[in-house]
Amino acid sequence: MCGIVGYIGSKQAAPLIVSGLKRLEYRGYDSAGICCIAPDGLTIAKKAGRVVDLERAVDLHTLEGTVGVGHTRWATHGVPSDENAHPHTDHSGTIALVHNGIIENYLTIKKKLANAGYTFKSDTDSEVLAVFIGMLYETLHDLELSVRTALAEVEGTFGIVVLSTHEPDVVIAARRGSPLILGIGNGEYLVASDASAVISHTRQVVYLQENEMAILRRDGFSTKTIENVDTRSVVEEIAFELAQIERGGFEHFMLKEIFEQPITFRDGFRGRLRVEDGTVRLGGLASVAEKLRQAKRIIITACGTSWHAGLVGEYLIESLARVPVEVEYASEFRYRNPIISPDDVVIAISQSGETADTLAAIREAKLKGATVIGMVNVVGSTIARETDAGVYLHAGPEIGVASTKAFTSQLCVLTQFALYLGRMRALSAEQGMAIAEELVNIPEHITRILDNVEPIKAIAKKYSGASNFLYLGRGVNFPAALEGALKLKEISYIHAEGYPAAEMKHGPIALIDENMPVVFIAPKDEIYDKVRSNIEEVRARNGRVIAIADEDDDRIADVATHVIRIPRTLPMLTPILASIPLQLLAYFIAVERGCNVDMPRNLAKSVTVE
Ligand code: AGP
Ligand code: GLU
Repeated sequence: MCGIVGYIGSKQAAPLIVSGLKRLEYRGYDSAGICCIAPDGLTIAKKAGRVVDLERAVDLHTLEGTVGVGHTRWATHGVPSDENAHPHTDHSGTIALVHNGIIENYLTIKKKLANAGYTFKSDTDSEVLAVFIGMLYETLHDLELSVRTALAEVEGTFGIVVLSTHEPDVVIAARRGSPLILGIGNGEYLVASDASAVISHTRQVVYLQENEMAILRRDGFSTKTIENVDTRSVVEEIAFELAQIERGGFEHFMLKEIFEQPITFRDGFRGRLRVEDGTVRLGGLASVAEKLRQAKRIIITACGTSWHAGLVGEYLIESLARVPVEVEYASEFRYRNPIISPDDVVIAISQSGETADTLAAIREAKLKGATVIGMVNVVGSTIARETDAGVYLHAGPEIGVASTKAFTSQLCVLTQFALYLGRMRALSAEQGMAIAEELVNIPEHITRILDNVEPIKAIAKKYSGASNFLYLGRGVNFPAALEGALKLKEISYIHAEGYPAAEMKHGPIALIDENMPVVFIAPKDEIYDKVRSNIEEVRARNGRVIAIADEDDDRIADVATHVIRIPRTLPMLTPILASIPLQLLAYFIAVERGCNVDMPRNLAKSVTVE
């Protein structure tokens, strides 16, 4: 789920692993641990809490050795505790393992091992695998073979790294469902769950494929499938710079990422958008262009924030390209036995490109013959690789657990996709040009909003003590309301709900009193007057209204308690602009409440378990 960093080389492994783990902190976790192979055996330190808690508890200098592995855990089986933290060892204490993911049949394996007399120190599924490998090693006397034999019986998902004092010059890594990459250095190798943990050592990486394992030694590495068929690995270059994963003077990554949006948004259309004829060039879709032209239906599948982007996409694609669109939570799509035909196009939207539910959904769609497209941020990620075609978001690494810039980049790409498809089908050049022209103005509009954050800060201060928030919007701004509510609950732990504004009277209105802040997204579009009526309904019940409104709306202040202004744009592009103050509102409220904005409790950046 969270972080793995392994090392083999000539340097002391522990400090290097700990600094790698710190680079992975943004992914969210509850405990950390490290193991090195010292001359007299394995030395292990593990601790519930952050990497700094681990550092405080042990003197890293006592962890001697040039081979080691570290882990940050996001508990799935067993509470976050020192015992449940990884690495886990086998019964003899000579084999150590770290694991991301879930061993679904761990109870069956555990029972077998227990019947054979093996005991366990933790409640995790991962320790069962460590003990299982240890048991196999007793008869096989070969670490790689023992790992492979154990994995053949494992159901579920894993990214694992295994070390042993029996073979102190080898590190074994294997993956199924959880990402792992190898960092290729000079006489040294790293293995990590995320490129950010290796970039300060090397830019040369190999992305391990599904069902692949790697055997690392100081003088080289080899890869093969878990079934022992040799594979060819391609060395690639990391696609981002070290500076991009550092805070660069901002108090939090989230704030830095909010402020990056004029640039990241522009990066999303640079070289793609052709204003002169209102079209879009999406090179990554060339191979499926004909399929898209013929598509009878588009199904968008995603989770969380990416799912909200999908809802905006539904609106955009249906109105510009006139193709029916369905948007489904990936987790539901997979288990519903969905009706999919080869005429359907399935779009998976994902920042990380590793979300287990989304990955499972695209595999299901592919099995049923649909063409599957990815809209993914992380270059080289599993979803990017497993889709038939795709469009990268180009938002750069997103470190804050709460997604911000990836969301606006998703909207940037979805707008272009709708335009691309629309121009292939029904949309005229003139209509296309009008949208393309305005898309180009968006970065400047975002800058204008970011230049004036003080009023948002003041509102945040006033309402930071609230226990509930309601977010309301209509049409294309309904998903923006959902996203605003999600941002607030993720980082401030205030309960928040998003609703279509007109739905309020069918239930949520019962909640409204003088303690209930209600955020309205109310641009001057064709349903502006309806939204104003909804605002009146809230005011009539003494609710506090925070309205996100157009700069030139001189009537809104009559009905709203507070007004946050956004530049006037095309109605279909308002969710992009509205999401900026909503991100800032959530951010300032969370800071006001003293919350850990970049690493909110219980959340992980990339959810690689179901
Ligand atoms: C966003 O703020 C969330 N942390 C979460 O909902 C996220 O959007 C979701 O887990 C999907 O992730 P993905 O885009 O990486 O697939
Ligand atoms: N399932 C394992 C555990 O609960 C691994 C969790 C993770 O991915 O961090 O320990």
